[in-house]
Amino acid sequence: MREYWQRRPLLIRNAFPGFRPPVDRDAVLALARRGDVESRLVSRFGGRWSMQHGPLDRLPSARRAGWTLLVQGVDLLDESAHALLGSFRFVPDARLDDLMVSYATDGGGVGPHVDSYDVFLLQAAGRRRWRISRQRDLAVDPDAPLKVLSHFRPEQEWVLEPGDMLYLPPGVAHEGTAVGECLTYSVGFRAPTFQELLAPWLDEFAAAATVPGRYADPGLEATRRPGALPRAMVEGIHAALRRQQPGKADTRRFLLRHLTEPKAQVVFDRPRRPASVAGFIDRAARRGLALDRRTRLMYAGGELGINGESVPAPAGCRTALVALADRRRLAADAIAGVPPAGQALLHAWYEAGWLHLGGG
Ligand code: SIN
Ligand code: CO
Repeated sequence: MREYWQRRPLLIRNAFPGFRPPVDRDAVLALARRGDVESRLVSRFGGRWSMQHGPLDRLPSARRAGWTLLVQGVDLLDESAHALLGSFRFVPDARLDDLMVSYATDGGGVGPHVDSYDVFLLQAAGRRRWRISRQRDLAVDPDAPLKVLSHFRPEQEWVLEPGDMLYLPPGVAHEGTAVGECLTYSVGFRAPTFQELLAPWLDEFAAAATVPGRYADPGLEATRRPGALPRAMVEGIHAALRRQQPGKADTRRFLLRHLTEPKAQVVFDRPRRPASVAGFIDRAARRGLALDRRTRLMYAGGELGINGESVPAPAGCRTALVALADRRRLAADAIAGVPPAGQALLHAWYEAGWLHLGGG
């Protein structure tokens, strides 16, 4: 983190010795057929780029060179793919985006491009050649259906074998080309633009704000220029606006909600016949609890953010809930010490399908 994160590329040979991809080629092809999964087919046949969004029922033959299939959010769909992300939790969950898996036939790839995100490119099966460049010229081909650099001038290249991994910070031009059939896992991080964050933040703030008072001008003098907007009015209203500064606690609460918001396609499975609070706590005290793989749980300053909602941590529960967020599980023997308000909260999450019995 000190030397490379957000700074420079890093090639790690054998980062995952003997790596066995939890989601293989056939599983990726099957995922691309689903309507609730984000996928893309990118091909370059006869020198022409083409892109098609999923669901994809028909794919080119695996014997045909030059195409690739990319499936987004695989960690949300597969338990062992989600478990793989556990190896990357030296980076805060707030920065994590998802696991994308790509399958390509020989020569396949999405062309030279830049991303605005940090990414770990883990070679999962077969081989892929990565070429990178720190070039400043980021002009893209106006005719291509995807963002492909017009003038890519590679400076370094490597062929990655299964288990090898390449870290790229944002802004480094890169191109991955399959050498024979291959499978690549991209662990992607997110860094929202201030625009993306501030627009919903200000919307939320405006909706929640109750502003006392009304504009008044007891000192108003008769005017010969009735068309002019009075300067005192601009100043008075601007002063009222400045009194509405959000505090740091508001920003923290907004981020807890915003950054834990589930992706659009996420649907949680509620237990069909949920246990009562007492029955649930009794079982949790024997079997422990585990967060659902789709749940995002974060904490800051005595508050929790979970799947788009923020709640204050009930008194006496902070340690247990922090442990649940950090480890994504809660040991059976930690349940007994959770006071009733915390038990009710855990039960509500269990009823929503956000956490499950077992795994502790
Ligand atoms: C790929 O897996 O082919 C694309 C990953 C990337 O370049 O970001
Ligand atoms: Co990329």
